[in-house]
Amino acid sequence: MGRDYRLNYHLMPCKGWMNDPNGLCFYHGEYHIYYQACVDSAAGNGSAKGWGHFKTKDFIHYEDTGIANVPSEPFERDGAYSGSAVIKDDQMHFFYTGNVKEKGDYDYIHAGRQHNTIHAYSKNGDLIEDKHVIFYNRDYPAFCTCHVRDPKIIQHKGHYEMVLGVRTQNDEGCAMLYESSDLKEWKYLYQIKSEHLMGYMWECPDIYEDKGQRYLICCPQGLKKQGYDYENVYDNGYFHLEGDLAKDYRTLDHGFDFYAPQTMAKDGRTILIGWMGLPDTDYSNPTKSWQHALTLPRVLMAENGRLMQSVIPEIAERTVFAGSGRQSVHPKRMRYLFDAADVLDVSFNDIHITYADHLFTLDLSKCGQGRTQRHLVINALECMECYVDESSIEIFLNHGRETMTSRYYDGSDVLTAVSNVTYQEYEVPVFHIQKEYEI
Ligand code: FRU
Repeated sequence: MGRDYRLNYHLMPCKGWMNDPNGLCFYHGEYHIYYQACVDSAAGNGSAKGWGHFKTKDFIHYEDTGIANVPSEPFERDGAYSGSAVIKDDQMHFFYTGNVKEKGDYDYIHAGRQHNTIHAYSKNGDLIEDKHVIFYNRDYPAFCTCHVRDPKIIQHKGHYEMVLGVRTQNDEGCAMLYESSDLKEWKYLYQIKSEHLMGYMWECPDIYEDKGQRYLICCPQGLKKQGYDYENVYDNGYFHLEGDLAKDYRTLDHGFDFYAPQTMAKDGRTILIGWMGLPDTDYSNPTKSWQHALTLPRVLMAENGRLMQSVIPEIAERTVFAGSGRQSVHPKRMRYLFDAADVLDVSFNDIHITYADHLFTLDLSKCGQGRTQRHLVINALECMECYVDESSIEIFLNHGRETMTSRYYDGSDVLTAVSNVTYQEYEVPVFHIQKEYEI
């Protein structure tokens, strides 16, 4: 048996495949975190995808209750795809995409695929049921191909909005906005387009609002690499939203493994969780019985028009000071804090991080399973915070103004951080995950 690279303080499936976080919400004292799951195949191509389910009161102790959303209806036959949750009148509501692939000679873009928008309910979050379709393909505007998915509900000015990701007949990525006052009757408002073409499809859209400015978060597919921008097969990022116009696109996370982030607003703060993985990559992970994980929950904030991310205080503030040496005690569950640097050269064993001439580079050539380098041009490096786990690293630069998230597969168990700048290290608490079911 090879190493299984299980993480110490990140959410991952006990078995099988995981992708996008779904249905983030808070209900009756617990946060609910769902995810795209394929329990019987670590490659993600077994039976139709459903939603796995974790719940937590404190973000340290979790219950894994198994598959909460089983694709049981004909209108979701080939997968209960991504979606979101909203609580109204003490009731949990879910909106997601029912994927149906018809048998035949289709391109599955213009024909042969149903992407139905489904509304469903749950009594306690452990089982999603009472499903019905609110939009079939024929209900979407004529500019849509069959690719219309990932409904996210946002509460805005006393009503509900639903944002959906779209690939148009002209191969343009865009989003659509619907509105409702009761979650039952939905009215189409408008298409959200970017000033310039930004890929052919926007997956997993979400809208975040801060100080009156709205931001559209999404994952554009089809952006061409330009210098150090868009180095991944698909990007993730955000626009400034002005009515139906999406402007000033920026990548949110510059690492190898970050996709489909979803937000949840609760008590005035917004929590964001991403998938620590990417679809259709030309590299893979060596883990055999399971694949992929979620990022740490992050607090999202806007500052001068930029989105900033930091690990939620429930986790960050429970890290324990462990020293400021060159040798980590528990190397793979540490948080490292580095001071400002003009030049930085840090190795966490086989992970190599450098900053020189305003170029920040994450080099995984020795431990990336095909991943090599990712880059970021930044004017000045004020500080760097790294959360290192058994097979993941999340890097927050300049107080979370930029982030880089990646999986890595280091051969060694001892991490030695070497640098020409001072740093402090903290031990991160291990997650307790209780399993409530048999598989
Ligand atoms: C993004 C995505 C979504 C889709 C889901 C299916 O990773 O492709 O657009 O709903 O995954 O698992």
